[in-house]
Amino acid sequence: MSKKKIVVLTGAGISAESGLKTFRDSDGLWEGYKVTDVATPRAWKKDPAMVLDFYNQRRKNVLEAQPNAAHIGLAKLQDDFDVTIITQNIDDLHERAGSKKILHLHGEIFKMRSEFDESLVYDIRDDIKLGDKAEDGAQLRPNIVWFEEPVPMIQLAVPVVLSADIFVVVGTSLVVYPAAGLVDYAPMDIPKYVIDKVIPRTDNVYNVTNIEKPATQGIQDLIELLKSQ
Ligand code: APR
Repeated sequence: MSKKKIVVLTGAGISAESGLKTFRDSDGLWEGYKVTDVATPRAWKKDPAMVLDFYNQRRKNVLEAQPNAAHIGLAKLQDDFDVTIITQNIDDLHERAGSKKILHLHGEIFKMRSEFDESLVYDIRDDIKLGDKAEDGAQLRPNIVWFEEPVPMIQLAVPVVLSADIFVVVGTSLVVYPAAGLVDYAPMDIPKYVIDKVIPRTDNVYNVTNIEKPATQGIQDLIELLKSQ
């Protein structure tokens, strides 16, 4: 028998218990910066060195972090289900926990690319500074989707959500589009679960179970609920 398909949309909240800060839990500030001051093409134009430093610091934070019980629980679900993770996170904690099918909607912290040619992408774990160049001679920038930039991966994510048998949302405030809009593509009748410390807007979502708990506990509850079905 083929496995049921679980699609999980994750946000910063799933990595919070690994020590990585969320975006909107501390006055809209992130590591002391307003996200809009560093994660936009405007910021890159104005002060690329500052933007590179910001991401160098974030890369270090991710290197020091470990997957938590929520990442690991989702990876274990693969034993019984066909699981696809659609994450807004740029960390690699789902990968390190052992999840196999992962779509990064907003890019990855361990990838850099040419600032002009999106196809020139490199795996990089070290600090990057002004003057570090891609093969085309252009400055390397983070391979991350900034505010005001298109989100090409959404085109792969929509059909995945449309094909779900079970849909799960973990640790996202559902305020950033188009990612937040994926919730509306989950087939109407399938079971849906939302796990968050503070449940975000789900008023127009049909057949939803809200699990208002930290991700590590919430995922354990989800696993129990799925077993009992
Ligand atoms: N367990 C579960 N949920 C948590 C936890 C936790 N331990 N800690 C915080 N949360 C929840 C918050 O209640 C909130 O709903 O995680 C969510 C974090 O929301 P945001 O900070 O807005 O993060 P996210 O939704 O991932 O942001 C989306 O915005 O800045 C951009 O590109 C960036 O991908 C990011 C996007």
